[in-house]
Amino acid sequence: MQTATLPDLLDTRYSARGFKPDPVPQELLDRIFTQSLRAASNCNTQPWQVHVVSGEMRDKVSGAMLAEVMSGKGPSPEFDWNVKYAGAHKDRQWGSAMALYGAMGIAREDKAARMQAMGRNWQFFGAPHGAFFTMEKYLGIMGAVDMGIYAQTLSLLLEENGIQSCMQGALGQFPAPVKKLLGIPDEHGILFGMSFGYADDHPSNTCRTDRVALSEGVVFHE
Ligand SMILES: Cc1cc2nc3c(=O)[nH]c(=O)nc-3n(C[C@H](O)[C@H](O)[C@H](O)COP(=O)(O)O)c2cc1C
Repeated sequence: MQTATLPDLLDTRYSARGFKPDPVPQELLDRIFTQSLRAASNCNTQPWQVHVVSGEMRDKVSGAMLAEVMSGKGPSPEFDWNVKYAGAHKDRQWGSAMALYGAMGIAREDKAARMQAMGRNWQFFGAPHGAFFTMEKYLGIMGAVDMGIYAQTLSLLLEENGIQSCMQGALGQFPAPVKKLLGIPDEHGILFGMSFGYADDHPSNTCRTDRVALSEGVVFHE
């Protein structure tokens, strides 16, 4: 079998939001997660500690997050996720939401269906595995940059192995019960997370997002 090139992987990767229940073999997970640790970080600090949940623990963590959501307490992220997007960012945020709800056949005004779709975040979209990306809280933006690089590295390695994923800020919104179940110390925070496994034919998986043109995203200076 020919190995996919990096441009192939960038083209085929998308955020999957529906999965088969089949778990990824542990041997393959060990290989992929070992490779993921090659990601670059500022001064090689490698600030990430990744917690992967599968099987019973996946179900417990999902149940605990859903209980928090249902309690109506509201999110309590450990890092600032409260940015209000403006201008082009707001338009793109809107565009991605419309693409997703469109793929799922959810009308713009159907708030109940949108809430239900949102709730699937805390069920890991049915994926057999979830990952929580944690780092020591004091690292702030320096650590967050490294964590993003780590997550992209991991998502491409997964894709290379025919495994789909979705990065999720939503997995950092109800950290307290997750940290308790996983024994994550207070000084560490969950920045965000990821669901992963083998994508199924859920309608959300037909959603594709666009990107700006080279001239808009990159400026070459001479
Ligand atoms: C840091 C980060 C957090 C994200 N959080 C969520 C999330 O909570 N729920 C979700 O469904 N998608 C989430 N996404 C997926 C984005 O919506 C998605 O990457 C974007 O719309 C581009 O689409 P694509 O990944 O399919 O190319 C997140 C992506 C990133 C990078």
